[in-house]
Amino acid sequence: MDKSTLILGIESSCDETAAAIVRGGEELVSSVVASQIATHSPYGGVVPELASREHLRNLVPVTRAALAKAGLTYADVDAIAVTNGPGLAGALLTGVSFAKSLAWALQKPLIAVNHIEGHIHAVLLEQREKGNGVLDFPVLALVVSGGHTHLFLAEQIGDAWHYENIGHTRDDAAGEAFDKTAKLLGLGYPGGPIIDRVSKFGDPQAVKFTFAQLKHSARQESKRAGRMEENRKRFDFSYSGIKTAVLRYVETHELFGAIEARRRALLEITAPTDEDFRRLCDRQTLDLVASFQAAVVGDLTHRTMAACEEYGVQTLLVTGGVAANSALRGAFEKRGPRSGVRVHFPSRIMSTDNAAMIAAAAYSKWISRDFAGLDISAEANLQLR
Ligand code: KG4
Ligand code: ZN
Repeated sequence: MDKSTLILGIESSCDETAAAIVRGGEELVSSVVASQIATHSPYGGVVPELASREHLRNLVPVTRAALAKAGLTYADVDAIAVTNGPGLAGALLTGVSFAKSLAWALQKPLIAVNHIEGHIHAVLLEQREKGNGVLDFPVLALVVSGGHTHLFLAEQIGDAWHYENIGHTRDDAAGEAFDKTAKLLGLGYPGGPIIDRVSKFGDPQAVKFTFAQLKHSARQESKRAGRMEENRKRFDFSYSGIKTAVLRYVETHELFGAIEARRRALLEITAPTDEDFRRLCDRQTLDLVASFQAAVVGDLTHRTMAACEEYGVQTLLVTGGVAANSALRGAFEKRGPRSGVRVHFPSRIMSTDNAAMIAAAAYSKWISRDFAGLDISAEANLQLR
């Protein structure tokens, strides 16, 4: 194991262009993230063509900035790691092409990293930095973001990590539900952080939301995942129903006029404060937002803790953009210890997309010489195994 190995990570799967350097899989040397929020904000969501264009524009300066911050040059780096999926095909392709050309020009190994595995390693990297690198197994990871809501049992065999999916969303990701609900209520983009801020002003018990009981065909899912085990219990999620329930509430309470007025008012404010949001939302809307957040957080915690119980989980990693949510953190911090489960989150900055997590996830592949050929491509639907 070479603790001096320097891996340059590159991430471009959605709307952040990021580059970072990680030493020996355990020390974050530098990390730079160029957010595209300003580009996509007027559309209330990520526009794939614009994302690819922005990545093309940002990849070189962001990578140079990460190297400069670290006081390094391209020649100092031992390997190039890149997210090759899942994500937006065009966006992924910009990062993959850039990383391949760097690897070729510098004659350095190329390492392909699954974005979801990256989110898991965001937590592991920070735990190692705190000197807390030894985990109690079984380990379960809840990866919850704008594009994903997954439960993975994570296992380390030698240096290599293996993952078994025991739950995923049947429709929308949890972050997508936050974003769509915020858009529907005229609150802006991205919705998660805004709903998090607005929720503290409302009553989380005011509006009751229910979630469907999901029937599972364990046999079918195991076969689809190419595994031999049968009847492994699954814990799937579904978040498109709650978005529709919010829409019904808006219709029956005739909130459309107020929503349009709020949307216009917020467009005039460059960086709305908590007080701006409170002023622009009536009591009914504040309560609706708080109840929505409480319902999603309650469902995520309930299903995840049930999975912990079923699989005798000792350590739970909660990661991805939605892991930045204060109510979600609070709920797991309360529920985990009660069930004897140690819960780890990434810092807020490492919860959302970044390249440090990609460089960190690449380290075990570096040790096992699991390198990618220059013929790899972007895989929008890449599975994690
Ligand atoms: O991990 P990420 O940057 O990108 C994906 O891989 O999808 O996650 C972005 C998602 C968005 O849906 C955003 O609204 C959500 O994470 N998010 C939050 C919070 N911060 C970001 N959701 C709830 N509460 C937050 N504080
Ligand atoms: Zn992500």
